[in-house]
Amino acid sequence: MSEELPRLDPPERLLCGPGPSNVEPSVIDAMRKPMLGHLDPDLHDILLDVMDMLRRTWRMPDGLVLPLHCTGTAGMEAGLANLLEAGDTAIVARSGFFGRRICEIARRCGAEVIAVNADWGEAVPNERILEELDRHPRARLVAVVHAETSTGVEHPLPELAAELRDRDTLLMADCVTSLGGVEVDIGGWSVDYAYSCTQKCLAAPPGMSPVAVSEAALERIRSRGTPPPFSFDLLLLEKYWVERPAAYHHTAPILSIYALHEALRLLLEEGLEARWARHAEAGAHLQREIRERGFELLAEPEHQLAPLTAVRVPDGVDGKEIQGRMLRDHGIEVGGGLGPMAPAMWRFGLMGKNATVQTADRVLAAFDAVTADEPALTTAS
Ligand SMILES: Cc1ncc(COP(=O)(O)O)c(C=O)c1O
Repeated sequence: MSEELPRLDPPERLLCGPGPSNVEPSVIDAMRKPMLGHLDPDLHDILLDVMDMLRRTWRMPDGLVLPLHCTGTAGMEAGLANLLEAGDTAIVARSGFFGRRICEIARRCGAEVIAVNADWGEAVPNERILEELDRHPRARLVAVVHAETSTGVEHPLPELAAELRDRDTLLMADCVTSLGGVEVDIGGWSVDYAYSCTQKCLAAPPGMSPVAVSEAALERIRSRGTPPPFSFDLLLLEKYWVERPAAYHHTAPILSIYALHEALRLLLEEGLEARWARHAEAGAHLQREIRERGFELLAEPEHQLAPLTAVRVPDGVDGKEIQGRMLRDHGIEVGGGLGPMAPAMWRFGLMGKNATVQTADRVLAAFDAVTADEPALTTAS
């Protein structure tokens, strides 16, 4: 008798937490298309199409644009490992989980990190970042999180980029929760290294990290005294993704690339502005409804991000229990606070396919149902 092994049978979920988000059926269908080898010239044409669509999505007419074969965190690490060498100074805006992660990885690259802090829910003021740069004019890199998923805060990135335009210091931006969901214009703003992920507003499965690298950043990499880690060496990756004939670097995740191809096609077919407007409308609707129920949002209103809404859990309420009931009773995933330092919160994400007023209303209906018999909330709602 052969052993009865478990069959794969995941339940249906509405993914309205901090990511991943649900994907369109055509994105899954793309992964069922015929497999090609990673050195097949027909695949190489597909790679060029993906890069062309990514360029338009990042709004990056020059420099290098490609999706790395790794998650958002590794896209962050790739940027730091390419742009920093041991002994360099990096100025990092830190007001949430992912700003902390940038500091941690930059230190592991051997950099001296100057962290510019703000509280959870606040954006680090650009003036404070620039003051630190005046104090450390030889700093190699300024890094900020454009969309801090741990707090729902959008950093005023274009204003910071404008201030840095005439300086030698490069600017890196974490666009993991902003690309495809809010305005991103890496070329127009002059950001030197931006990274994202596939699983949030781009609405593809997790596993790849689209990046955009400016000419100035490429020049910096070319002039390094020591090579960056092999797997993340952007100049070697360029030889596979851009140069023809393509030179082998690693076996590319072919089916993930197909999925990204379809997700980008859907995004550009909808249009970038229309896509941002859809996210803005859905996010504003959810935020208004949540506030009307008496709950407090974590982010400062002027920096509130559309795709991610962080809601403070009122005193006396077991936030994890509410989150668990949303999943168990309604099949809806929402997030909680990220990391031990985070205040108690729920995090609602309306990203990609899920960025609609209808989906927001579905989440709100479930939230109302699970909070209806919560005694500590009778005064809040
Ligand atoms: C702002 C931000 N940066 C980086 C990451 C890391 O991405 P990944 O989980 O794909 O490694 C995330 C993930 O949620 C994020 O929200």
